[in-house]
Amino acid sequence: MNLFDIIYDGQAQYLQRAEEMVAKVVAEKGKETPVKFPGTAYALPCIYAITGKKITNVGELEDALALAKEKIHRTNYLQDALDAGTASAMLAEIIEAVKYVYDELPYAGRHVEDLNTTDVRYLGHITDAEVRNFGVPLVTDDIPGVAVIIGEAKDAETLAGIVKDYQGKGLLTFMVGKVIDQAIEQKIKMGIDLRVIPLGYEIESVIHVVSVAIRASLIFGATPPGDFLAHRTYTKNRVKAFVNVFGPWDNKIIAAGAAAIELGFPAVTETFINEVPTLLLHQPDNSKVVATSLEARNIKIKVTEIDCPVAVSSAFEGERVRKDTMFAEFGGNKTECWELVTTGDVAEMEDHKITVVGPDIDDAMFEGKDVVRLPMGVVVKVGGKAMQKDFETVLERRIHYFTNYIEGAMHVGQRNIAWIRLTKEAFEKGFRLRHIGEVLYAKMRSDFDKVVDKCEVTIYTNAEDVKRLGEELVKPIYAERDERMGALTDESVDEFYTCLLCQSFAPSHVCVVTPERLGLCGAVSWLDAKATKELDPTGPNQPIVKGEAIDERLGRWDSVNEVVARDSQGAVEAVTLYSILEDPMTSCGCFECICGIMPEANGVIIVNREFGDTSPVGMTFGELASMTGGGVQTPGFMGHGRFLIGSKKFMSAEGGLQRIVWMPKELKDDVAERLNKAVKEMTGIENFADMVCDETIASDSEAVLEFLESKGHPALAMDPIM
Ligand code: SF4
Ligand code: NI
Ligand code: NI
Repeated sequence: MNLFDIIYDGQAQYLQRAEEMVAKVVAEKGKETPVKFPGTAYALPCIYAITGKKITNVGELEDALALAKEKIHRTNYLQDALDAGTASAMLAEIIEAVKYVYDELPYAGRHVEDLNTTDVRYLGHITDAEVRNFGVPLVTDDIPGVAVIIGEAKDAETLAGIVKDYQGKGLLTFMVGKVIDQAIEQKIKMGIDLRVIPLGYEIESVIHVVSVAIRASLIFGATPPGDFLAHRTYTKNRVKAFVNVFGPWDNKIIAAGAAAIELGFPAVTETFINEVPTLLLHQPDNSKVVATSLEARNIKIKVTEIDCPVAVSSAFEGERVRKDTMFAEFGGNKTECWELVTTGDVAEMEDHKITVVGPDIDDAMFEGKDVVRLPMGVVVKVGGKAMQKDFETVLERRIHYFTNYIEGAMHVGQRNIAWIRLTKEAFEKGFRLRHIGEVLYAKMRSDFDKVVDKCEVTIYTNAEDVKRLGEELVKPIYAERDERMGALTDESVDEFYTCLLCQSFAPSHVCVVTPERLGLCGAVSWLDAKATKELDPTGPNQPIVKGEAIDERLGRWDSVNEVVARDSQGAVEAVTLYSILEDPMTSCGCFECICGIMPEANGVIIVNREFGDTSPVGMTFGELASMTGGGVQTPGFMGHGRFLIGSKKFMSAEGGLQRIVWMPKELKDDVAERLNKAVKEMTGIENFADMVCDETIASDSEAVLEFLESKGHPALAMDPIM
């Protein structure tokens, strides 16, 4: 069979199965039965993007079949063969959708609460919130690429080596087929948080990763549904995915490969196939498959040499360390634990000096103990000609990420509420406290090379030092910084900053970052932007010289408008910084929270990405989020960072923080302290957070209103919001 016949045959097999399954589900469930994947606002996302049609019930699956068939023309033209790939993708999505009609959770992995164990078998459909979670790491190149592994490798060790290699490089890896069992056998750490995602055993489940790429285009790119060429251009240019096929392939796998190629994702097979240059490649040597794949997609990995016995990769950032696997613990309310970055005098510093003062985790005193518990103080001293005091907090916050990158280490919190856990496995591999210093040293030097010429790390573990230095050295520095930060307002600075990082996925989106309004992903503060400008002068953060405001209430500046118009290539001509209704700032898609108006309460609700239920306006986070994003202005909806809840500039044009009437409890508790303080200073109202409703009190409109009335919520007495 030639390559085209292989693709057509694979496509015919999908068609047959899809037709049988649709006929069956029509007969057994009736045409009115709803069809949907969980947690998405985009119906069957691939079919929606390709055709513009939202398939919502069993009857419409018949229409979807007809749409797929329109793509099928058996000729010897390459484009027709690729169209057969696209048809196969649509048919696979239909097949998967039918599975979800019969069973709300056809993929057992979703029943497993703890995704960080090897019990995770397969996960199936990925929700919109999960796709959005990938937004920031993808734009920062923290996730440099996406690997899709299909089939069965020669042996489990080989497979494990390849998956670990991708994981160690920070890639996102999806698996389909027996490779999943091989990874389980080799105890690969899996789960969405660990960037190794088993989808399912049947080839059709590969559609769930195609759906991730397509939704990146719908969500971040605001690409119109139905304009498949635009979606293909988007995925080809912006989603750095590729496919690896292990073991003997069958025709269905190759038809799926054709679908991938049509989206711009090259496929590499282990078993011989007639190659198509740059698109379909044959690589029989397993030790070269990673290099071949990265090269095919032009993915460049920055390597930092680190002296450490366990892997250090951003893929391990989400790893949890639970009690049963824990070896040592620092902080977490049991002992004191703090961390500090200070600036030293370069002339007096000794680069790469790493010191542990006090007992290490292998100290004799811990013999026979269940768990090693120690206080910890970490001082990272940096020096360099371009280093500025203001950057200390920026570097210090990175300690959290860098420590988390260590396989077998968990870091929570910051400053003097830091909390670190290490696993038994890491200890057995030879990990000691010095290695925390090695990791911090190496990452500070490589990530902040423009400002850090020398770096020293000292780790204190004896109670006396930790306590004394905590009081004498650390606290006064925190206090001084807090004071400076408190005085930092939009009025007190001459420059705001742009952030264009998300343009790699949302080409017309521009964030304007000010001292009182951080980037909507929550990851870029004004100081971060300022530091990034220093580190990377032509990079994503550029100053906007503020000048006079045209309208102070709305937060309208000529300077801001000019820069936004320029950097969005004319897509957006004017934004305000303090209004949700008049020319609000655009969103990319990776916002932590979405704020929307609840007209009957004369206020707004805020929903964070982690919250899965329906909000009082009748929409979930995903549904609210789909109203905006992709660099489009949508008055009445605003994506923003958690930290904005507590800023006096939070939609201040419409009355500000006191308009907030509802938030999920977890979010409310998280922001309560800053929120209460800001509202008190602005209005004199005490404990404002207690007046804000949450899902444990009420989520339906009427009951929310009753609650607000009982509390005398200020929004009820304010001018009409619309
Ligand atoms: Fe993206 Fe804005 Fe965050 Fe920059 S600040 S990474 S543009 S969301
Ligand atoms: Ni970790
Ligand atoms: Ni973004």
